[in-house]
Amino acid sequence: MSNPISGFSKLSKAQKIEWLTKTYFKANEQAIDVLKRYWNSDNELQKLHDDFIENTISNYYLPIGIAPNFLVNQDLYAIPMVIEESSVVAAASNAAKFWLDKGGFTTQVVSTIKNGQVHLNFFGNTADMIAFFGVIKPKLIASISQVETNMKKRGGGLLDIQLIDSTNTLDGFFQLHCTFETLDAMGANFINTCLETFAQTLEREAKTYKAFNTSQTYPEVVMSILSNYTPECLVRASVSCHVDLLKQKDLDGRLFAQKIVRAISIAKATPRRAVTHNKGIMNGIDAVILATGNDFRAVEAAVHAYACKDGQYSSLTHASVENDIFKMWIELPLALGTVGGLTSLHPLVGFAFDLLQKPNAKKLMQLVAVAGLAQNFAALRSLVTTGIQKGHMKMHLMNILNGVQATDAEKTLAVTHFTSHQVSHRAVIAFIEQLRA
Ligand code: MEV
Repeated sequence: MSNPISGFSKLSKAQKIEWLTKTYFKANEQAIDVLKRYWNSDNELQKLHDDFIENTISNYYLPIGIAPNFLVNQDLYAIPMVIEESSVVAAASNAAKFWLDKGGFTTQVVSTIKNGQVHLNFFGNTADMIAFFGVIKPKLIASISQVETNMKKRGGGLLDIQLIDSTNTLDGFFQLHCTFETLDAMGANFINTCLETFAQTLEREAKTYKAFNTSQTYPEVVMSILSNYTPECLVRASVSCHVDLLKQKDLDGRLFAQKIVRAISIAKATPRRAVTHNKGIMNGIDAVILATGNDFRAVEAAVHAYACKDGQYSSLTHASVENDIFKMWIELPLALGTVGGLTSLHPLVGFAFDLLQKPNAKKLMQLVAVAGLAQNFAALRSLVTTGIQKGHMKMHLMNILNGVQATDAEKTLAVTHFTSHQVSHRAVIAFIEQLRA
């Protein structure tokens, strides 16, 4: 084992690699080559990526693909997706095409409120705390007037501050629950700055508040941070058509609709299925979140918490058949930004925004929700008809062929062969071996 290193962050990229591959572990030249091969020859672009994080040693590529033909509220979109899993973009494209002549997707932003909390310890008299909050609330609001100036000019800013007595969940636990409208910004920096300002104001005011002085029991700030759980930043997307239009190759439309409804009921009935069901939805959501430079960890955390809102982890999508009309919809929290963060820095994110016709945050919420709904429809459509493996293995064929370094000629022959044969890892290897023999 090598010794710990100090000053690693001060080394140049080449020096970092040198230390890693010569001192930390004995890498062969190939490993060094791989890292350097992914450096971009455009120095300016490389520098941009170097500076996104600390201790960058190279770049990590994922493909960006396009799912065209999404009709959303009667406008046509080509949706950019960044993802490593084969078949996700194809599935989204298929779903988009399927709904294109059936009215497409309809969307609606339900609300756009973000929130954060100043978490407090207070072991004194609750009535004193409530009275204190009443006195300082205007001061808290005034304390962020400068921070808020620009956001307010654009129509956003702080919405409200409430004192929440959470002592029933944790001894001495109070919160300042603060709500915000952050417009086209995801808002994390704005919210956190406001919360930390509230925290300082509260502690300062507490020092001179008479009732606390008398009892010698002061509220103490534990931490101030936005919440990534944003159930008040909610969007819906839906598709709908007469069941007759849903006819599949070997399946009557009505039966197909019933199967989709049943599949969603199963996801609602059992978390084991719901997790996979929602994972498929996140295939679409995360891919667009990544393409548009948003924070997929924040979205994942919020969405899965929302999936538990009724006490059991459940499906994010819903479906019904009423009077022969099939309807399927998704409802989920999406706190997204189209300004700030990576959105103005990463050239490919800039491209993604251009492709999406420069959406504001509300429009982006709707398009992301559509991608999630499309992905779920595509997955369920396969699951209740052919099974998932047929399409999946077809897309995976290229990965297997690349894994055995198949030539272009071998790939062409394999693709032709496997249009009429079942794809499996073993079958593809055998086919290639036979060709090479
Ligand atoms: C695979 O990435 C996603 C699916 O498992 C989703 C689902 O089962 O609904 C196909």
